[in-house]
Amino acid sequence: MSETPPHPRPTPGLLLRGVEIFPGWLEPPAQAEMVEDLRAVVAAAPFFQPETRFGRKMSVRMTSAGRYGWVSDRRGYRYERRHPSGVAWPPIPASVLAVWEAITGLDRRPDCCLVNYYAEGAKMGMHQDRDEADFGWPVLSISLGDAARFRIGNIERGGATESVWLNSGDVLVMGGEARLVHHGIDRVRPGSSTLLKGGGRLNLTLRVVD
Ligand code: SIN
Ligand code: FE2
Repeated sequence: MSETPPHPRPTPGLLLRGVEIFPGWLEPPAQAEMVEDLRAVVAAAPFFQPETRFGRKMSVRMTSAGRYGWVSDRRGYRYERRHPSGVAWPPIPASVLAVWEAITGLDRRPDCCLVNYYAEGAKMGMHQDRDEADFGWPVLSISLGDAARFRIGNIERGGATESVWLNSGDVLVMGGEARLVHHGIDRVRPGSSTLLKGGGRLNLTLRVVD
């Protein structure tokens, strides 16, 4: 990608280990609209519970929108053109693409919007997002629903970490020097948001895949 994005970018409210955080980027009405758009995504491509390479069920349920979806099973982590059921992934909603455009300042659109659902008790271990072809493109994340503690480590495995609570409407970018930082979700705080009727947390991550 180009060194400088073609369009101006907003200044993050918080910078933690190079990870940019835009607290409250989406107002509650925009959050509710996005949830409605995601309902259509999930109707076309239902959530599934992936397994790790080692055959352990993940606690997070997932689906995707876009040209590619992210999947995991005993064959490993990878992007696929189709949902495990065989249907094509639905398109990424315009409301979601608009956040990518406004925050990244890029003309290139993401190929994949991974949708993670965290019910009470779900979490995600420390990992890097590294199944994409070109780490020059950022990964952008949108949080909706219950608050979650997001942990940020280092490019190398292990070492000291820091964490930040992500609330509904917060947007985060891992790009540049922070593109390959280890990160994960320690826990979700049940009942901290009324956005999702059944409770829990949705996280969207937008990625350029190839
Ligand atoms: C992820 O790393 O894929 C998800 C991060 C999050 O849920 O905020
Ligand atoms: Fe990730």
